[in-house]
Amino acid sequence: MEEIGFLGMGIMGKAMAMNLLRHGFKVTVWNRTLSKCDELKEHGASVGESPAAVVKKCKYTIGMLSDPPAALSVVFDKNGILEEICSGKGYIDMSTVDAETSTKISEAVKEKGGDFLEGPVSGSKKPAEDGQLVILAAGEKVGNGAKMKLVVNMIMGSMMNAFSEGLVLADKSGLNPKTLLDVLDLGAIANPMFKMKGPSMIQNSYNPAFPLKHQQKDMRLALALGDENAVFKKARSTGLGDLDFSALLNIRLDDPEGSMPFSYYKNRAFFLALIPRFGVEMTKNTRILYYFVFNAIRCTSVD
Ligand SMILES: NC(=O)c1ccc[n+]([C@@H]2O[C@H](COP(=O)([O-])OP(=O)(O)OC[C@H]3O[C@@H](n4cnc5c(N)ncnc54)[C@H](OP(=O)(O)O)[C@@H]3O)[C@@H](O)[C@H]2O)c1
Repeated sequence: MEEIGFLGMGIMGKAMAMNLLRHGFKVTVWNRTLSKCDELKEHGASVGESPAAVVKKCKYTIGMLSDPPAALSVVFDKNGILEEICSGKGYIDMSTVDAETSTKISEAVKEKGGDFLEGPVSGSKKPAEDGQLVILAAGEKVGNGAKMKLVVNMIMGSMMNAFSEGLVLADKSGLNPKTLLDVLDLGAIANPMFKMKGPSMIQNSYNPAFPLKHQQKDMRLALALGDENAVFKKARSTGLGDLDFSALLNIRLDDPEGSMPFSYYKNRAFFLALIPRFGVEMTKNTRILYYFVFNAIRCTSVD
C-alpha cells in the first residue's frame, strides 16, 4: 500500500491522519510544532523532518494547515513541498483557504510536474475522527472547492451569530435558554449545529472543535469573495421589504458580474442559486476525484 504523507497535526489533521493509520495506511506526518506528532508516532506513523522530506518519501501528501499563509509556507518556504514534488507525486491541500491561494499552489506544483487537488472539508473534529468529512474537491477547476467552502462557512458563521444573539436575548428576557433550544429543535430552523453546540454554549463551555480564529478567517475570506455586507438594508431599500426574507437572494444576484439571467434563479433555493453564482460546478472529473478522496479518507474502499 502507498505511503501517505500528512502535513499539519492540528485538531483536524491529527484526526484525519489517525484515521488513515487505523485503516491500514502507512503514514508519514510532519508538524511545525514537532511535539504534536508524538501521538501519531505512538500509533505507528513515521515523522518527517520537513514538508520536503515527507513529499520525497510519499507518492501522495495531504496538507491540513490553518490559513493561507500557512498553506503557502509549507509549499514555497525552504524545505517546502516544491523542493521534492515531481511527476508521479501528488499534493492534496485540504486546508480552508481562498481560491487565489489554491491556484497559486496548484500552478507551482504543476510547474514541477506534480499533481494537485484542492479538497477543503465540511465537518469538524468528530466527523474527522469518524471518517465522515464531506470533501469539496473541484478537480481541474482549482479554486471552486475553496469558494464553495467559504460560502458554506459564511452561512455557518451567520447562523452562529444569529443563534448567539437569540440565546442572549432569551436569557436577558427571562426565558430559560434550554427551553429555547427545545423550541428551536421543533421548528423549521432546527439543525444539527444548534443541537450540537447549544447545550455546551449555555454552560459556557468552549472546548475547541473548530477554533473561533478559523471561523473569523473564513468570514474574512468569504467577504472578500463576495461584495458588500449590508445586504438586508440594501434589499429593503430596493423595495423588497414586504416580500419573504428569502428575497435577500435577489440582492445577492443583482451584481454586474453575475453571468446568468435573473429568471434562471427564480424560485430556486438560496444555497443552490449561490453555486452557479460563484461559478462552482461539479464536472464528471470533479465527482470522480471527490469519490477518490472521500473514500481514501473514510477508507471504505481500501483494506
Ligand atoms: N476544526 C474544524 O472543525 C475545521 C473544520 C473544517 C475545516 N477546518 C479548516 O482546517 C484547517 C485546520 O484546522 P484545525 O482546526 O485543525 O486548526 P488547528 O488545530 O489550529 O491546526 C492548524 C495547523 O496549522 C499549522 N500551522 C499554522 N501556521 C503554520 C505555519 N505558518 N507553517 C506551518 N504550519 C502552520 C499548525 O501547526 P502548529 O501546531 O505548529 O501551530 C497546525 O498543525 C483550517 O484551515 C480550518 O479552517 C477546520
